Amino acid sequence: MKKDAAYLRQKKQNGQKIVSLTCYDYPTAVLEEQAGVDLIIVGDSVGTNVLGYASEQEVTLADIAHHLRAVCRGASEPYILADLPFGTYETPQQALKNAEYLLAQGADIVKLEGMPVEVVQHLIAHDIPLCGHLGLLPQTHIKKAVQGKRFDQAKALVEDALRLEQLGILMLVLELIPEELGQIVTEKLKIPTIGIGAGRHTDGQVLIVNDILGITPRKFRLAKKYQDYQGLTLQTLQKYGHDVEQVIFPEESNVSHMAAEELQQLRD
Ligand code: KIV
Ligand code: NA
Repeated sequence: MKKDAAYLRQKKQNGQKIVSLTCYDYPTAVLEEQAGVDLIIVGDSVGTNVLGYASEQEVTLADIAHHLRAVCRGASEPYILADLPFGTYETPQQALKNAEYLLAQGADIVKLEGMPVEVVQHLIAHDIPLCGHLGLLPQTHIKKAVQGKRFDQAKALVEDALRLEQLGILMLVLELIPEELGQIVTEKLKIPTIGIGAGRHTDGQVLIVNDILGITPRKFRLAKKYQDYQGLTLQTLQKYGHDVEQVIFPEESNVSHMAAEELQQLRD
């Protein structure tokens, strides 16, 4: 069954948690679908996690579209969200054109950061399924610090969340805020909240898939490393190199042979 925004909203109403992960490629999408992930996010986190960019600001619309198409080939049931990257929603017209492009490439919903109210209004007026993103905004906040610890910041964030819901967004990502603030926003909104470093009370959780697999060299407090991809992969690459050099690989089971007659003819 294809999951949609109504399905995610129903999960919130039932008090069931929404499971979300980022995804950037076909094989991972296949596995995320098998694992029952509700919401796949093709985020601009692809830049620093997969493409080797120094920041989210380098990610282009073409980058997102390329990875989005790969993910869509691998997963048909999860709800698929694509990020509008930095600089692609500066004006309402530009945002609409780019959002329509990502939807045409297979996204079910697009996400933008912060409170560009005119852009949000324009997209929603044109029936673009839209997700908000408040708290830490990686496209513009260079320093990755917890947001909304102070009363005035927290109050502004609650107001922004309510305003976005009123404008018609379908979901809201909350990044790197205190758990209490994540809970208050989640209780005030009817639409689902998806937290990353936003505590235990948001309607769903999302993490960077590279972080949970242990692909990322750094360790973040908000993430949990479930697997040591780096260590295992390095060992495997070294073992392969060793086996080639020592002529341990390929072995009999990896090769094919000619029939004796054919071989004799060839030799003659
Ligand atoms: O880019 C991204 O991966 C995101 C998620 C963390 C929500 O925006
Ligand atoms: Na993002």
